[in-house]
Amino acid sequence: MSMTKRAALAALLSLGLAAPALAQSFPTKPITVIVSFAAGGPSDVIARLLGEQMSKTLGQSVVVENVAGAGGTAGAKRAAAAEPDGHTILIHHLALAAAPALYNNLGYDTKTAFAPIGLVNTGPMVIASKLALPPTDAKSFFPYIKENAEKLTVAHAGVGSNSHLCAVLMSQQLGAKFNQVAYRGTGPAMNDLVGGQIDILCDQSTSAIPQITGKSIRAYAVTSAQRLSVLPDVPTMAEAGAKLDMTIWHGLYAPKGTPAPVLDKLNAALRTALKSPAVIEKFQAFGTSTFPESEMTREAHAKLFEAEVDKWATSLAAAGVKPQG
Ligand code: MLT
Repeated sequence: MSMTKRAALAALLSLGLAAPALAQSFPTKPITVIVSFAAGGPSDVIARLLGEQMSKTLGQSVVVENVAGAGGTAGAKRAAAAEPDGHTILIHHLALAAAPALYNNLGYDTKTAFAPIGLVNTGPMVIASKLALPPTDAKSFFPYIKENAEKLTVAHAGVGSNSHLCAVLMSQQLGAKFNQVAYRGTGPAMNDLVGGQIDILCDQSTSAIPQITGKSIRAYAVTSAQRLSVLPDVPTMAEAGAKLDMTIWHGLYAPKGTPAPVLDKLNAALRTALKSPAVIEKFQAFGTSTFPESEMTREAHAKLFEAEVDKWATSLAAAGVKPQG
């Protein structure tokens, strides 16, 4: 869109004149969902599953674009600068909220750059290793990794990603310093864990469960308060004698300035997708859940997002972490 057309659209939107017309015809072309991590990881898996269902309601295809790098902030930056017409949206998780406490010069203002569309899923992380690692259960795992920390490699998806925050918490909890290896997402990190090139990965249950049940990796503990029904033999961190609570969540976002009726249409398509048998079945298998109905509104997502930005700013500053870059 040219600058003149964009300015004219902005003027019409500010008068409330163009929004209803835009929303009525929306979407007029395929929708791109930016995934801020590599293909094959949990964010990508969830995006593709949702996209398939949302396209049925929206009548246009939903295409995933992986824009990986810098702990998920490269994709967020691209989404923040996209045309605010609903045709480019972003799926992201708590790393979007933690990023301002970890990075200088993000290129966008986290609290104002995005219009939350709705919350997608929430679930735990699973601490896992390659099969060749000697400990076979959580009881022997934690003393082993504490003793051998300097020899062990722990993979993650970049500073601020869920897998990185989990590795940091684990390292603080054990007072042990691991060799960290950064990937562009836990998809490729999981491939290397299965292949035995790295030792440990704390990943979302979405990606970890298929590999655990397929016996390609070994799970030691889940970071939820309760065991997962799909992993009944894997203890919680508390049962394993360690303190590490971590619950992740994904949400969908549009660039700020996207008309409210378009956001409403996207929110409705998201909610319909989350109630589809295909999504329900997969979420159950992945050990991940949807939010209660009352928390599926755009407003509830905006509230949670703002609170999470503040929470991570406070907790990371308290831990002595300073933004870099
Ligand atoms: C991914 O899809 O690769 C993950 O969401 C990255 C992470 O936050 O650990």
